[in-house]
Amino acid sequence: MVQREEEEGGGIMDLDEAIRQRRSIRKFKSDVPIPREHIEAIIQAGSWAPSSTNIQPWRFIVVEDRETIASMAQVVYDKFQALSKAALGKGEKRLAAFCRFLRSYTSFFADAPLLIVACTKPYENPVLKMPMSTVIEKTKALGDVGTDLTPIVMDTVQKSVAMALQNMLLKAHSLGYGTCAMDGPLAVGETMREMLGIEDDLELVMFIPMGVPESTDVEAPERMPVGDVIRYHSA
Ligand SMILES: Cc1cc2nc3c(=O)[nH]c(=O)nc-3n(C[C@H](O)[C@H](O)[C@H](O)COP(=O)(O)O)c2cc1C
Repeated sequence: MVQREEEEGGGIMDLDEAIRQRRSIRKFKSDVPIPREHIEAIIQAGSWAPSSTNIQPWRFIVVEDRETIASMAQVVYDKFQALSKAALGKGEKRLAAFCRFLRSYTSFFADAPLLIVACTKPYENPVLKMPMSTVIEKTKALGDVGTDLTPIVMDTVQKSVAMALQNMLLKAHSLGYGTCAMDGPLAVGETMREMLGIEDDLELVMFIPMGVPESTDVEAPERMPVGDVIRYHSA
């Protein structure tokens, strides 16, 4: 056990405990940095996730510079502020209120000591050697036999990244860090991309601020009963 802990960067925690106790954390001890050893153990945990045909399309941009993180959050805040004003200007009060909610929901990460931007590469297949949009076109041109390859050669990469991310959130939790999976900043994805110089072939998937939680006393949002989310198919 101790040997495994050392090899994997620490943090052995019961699986059920990790799953149940992980919370989205939105306030961090901003002066406690995360050592690279831990960052890499967290990304390593992500890389053990399943991915479509094991292509491992995930790529992670790790932002450690506090000023960059703070200015990214400020940009997101300002854009939602502008959107809320525009909605008010058109008399759209409910929409404006929603934008004001989003303003903080998407920009609370200003004080996080670390931000991981999870991206995906497009699906590639070494045998086919052609872009997947071409694969879809070509298969459609074969005639309608009732198939659509889009979910398995286009959208599949995002699903793979999401699988890696949950592993990462659990690993971070087991090491004592708080995280929050966020897609809010994607609303200003182009600006975020420019600020970080993200390569053109990468698609942004999720933003993960991370740090030691300011408080671990965070209430768990309720879950629906299993009976409400399950339907046994009857033949
Ligand atoms: C796809 C996705 C997008 C999310 N985006 C945001 C976000 O932009 N801002 C935020 O504060 N939380 C975001 N969350 C976190 C959810 O609000 C949170 O997971 C949910 O309320 C349940 O709380 P828990 O994670 O503490 O169990 C997101 C979660 C997921 C899975």
